Amino acid sequence: MSSNHERKTSASDTTNLHHKEEVEMLPDELFLDQTLRPRSWDGYIGQENIKRNLKILLTAAKERNHPPEHLLFYGPPGLGKTTLAHLIATESGTQMRATSGPAIEKVGDLASILTNLSPGDILFIDEIHRLNKLIEEVLYPAMESGSLDIIIGKGPSARTIQLDLPPFTLIAATTRISLLSSPLRSRFSGGTFRLEFYTTDEVKKIITQSAHILGVPIDDEAADEIAKRSRFTPRIANYLLKRCRDFAQVHKGKLSKETVREALMLLDIDELGLNALDRKILETIITKFAGGPVGLGTISAAISEEEGTIEEVSEPYLIQLGLLERTARGRTATNRAYHHLGYDIPQERQEKLL
Ligand SMILES: Nc1ncnc2c1ncn2[C@@H]1O[C@H](COP(=O)(O)OP(=O)(O)OP(=O)(O)O)[C@@H](O)[C@H]1O
Ligand SMILES: [Mg+2]
Repeated sequence: MSSNHERKTSASDTTNLHHKEEVEMLPDELFLDQTLRPRSWDGYIGQENIKRNLKILLTAAKERNHPPEHLLFYGPPGLGKTTLAHLIATESGTQMRATSGPAIEKVGDLASILTNLSPGDILFIDEIHRLNKLIEEVLYPAMESGSLDIIIGKGPSARTIQLDLPPFTLIAATTRISLLSSPLRSRFSGGTFRLEFYTTDEVKKIITQSAHILGVPIDDEAADEIAKRSRFTPRIANYLLKRCRDFAQVHKGKLSKETVREALMLLDIDELGLNALDRKILETIITKFAGGPVGLGTISAAISEEEGTIEEVSEPYLIQLGLLERTARGRTATNRAYHHLGYDIPQERQEKLL
């Protein structure tokens, strides 16, 4: 079973690269994710702190001749959580079984996965926040004491039998840590790691590495140009690289800075990496609500876009770039947003020194 296997596909624009809840991955992205996934620590750029910690944890476990303790990775989509899980399996030479929260529908599904593990295996559960609560409770004793409690029969004659499981390591990933119950969170004894956004330099290294794997020559300036528009996210970087390569191929040109600019303009991605939706949000706040503050629900209604998409996909990036502020009274466009979209800053805002 593969975590990717369960994903449904639907076509849409690059916005969806960030949002997996409603819109699942495009086949193109899936293919890219798999081909470009680094196979060694050296190929895994950035996240230095996490890598350092994991290397110690893995070495210590190996020396004790015991599987590493359970690990939880969280952070926005496309930052490398699944890649890390694969890397741990490769580097420690263990077999990994991959599944995902929504794929485990019944207690029996989990029981069968757990009892089929071989000693030392890694069990990877992607999107663990979507695991049903009843199933979660079966996972607790399995994680804690390596046992599986199964209830046989119904009513007064029901009895529990306990099965011993082979020692294993659970690696779980989520984009929504706040949805995990605290009993579940506390059972990741090996640690909970938050993946950070990448620096533009790191993204550039990833692009250069991916171009090499794809066999496309790319110059430094072109890599830089893509990196700047990748929202500090490897998956988006790889996706944009591929689109630029296609563009260069069709136009029989090489992958230069100019080609990248043209290709990305065609994709409606501007020089800050904003897409049409990001710009529409800012523009609406500026032109319809005098720059804000305006509530999320109102923005959502004004542009006919789901609140969740605005909140989880666009806002984190807009806030990170300093184009949007989230206040107690609602969302506000900053002066930088006015500049970026080419609007004059109104007099009263200048006076308020926003
Ligand atoms: N540190 C990295 N170095 C090089 N490439 C990376 C790195 N992190 C991620 N990538 C690339 O980005 C792609 C997406 O990463 P991955 O699938 O691991 O993200 P994710 O965090 O699991 O996302 P999601 O939450 O959507 O499941 C990978 O296929 C890989 O090519
Ligand atoms: Mg993943």
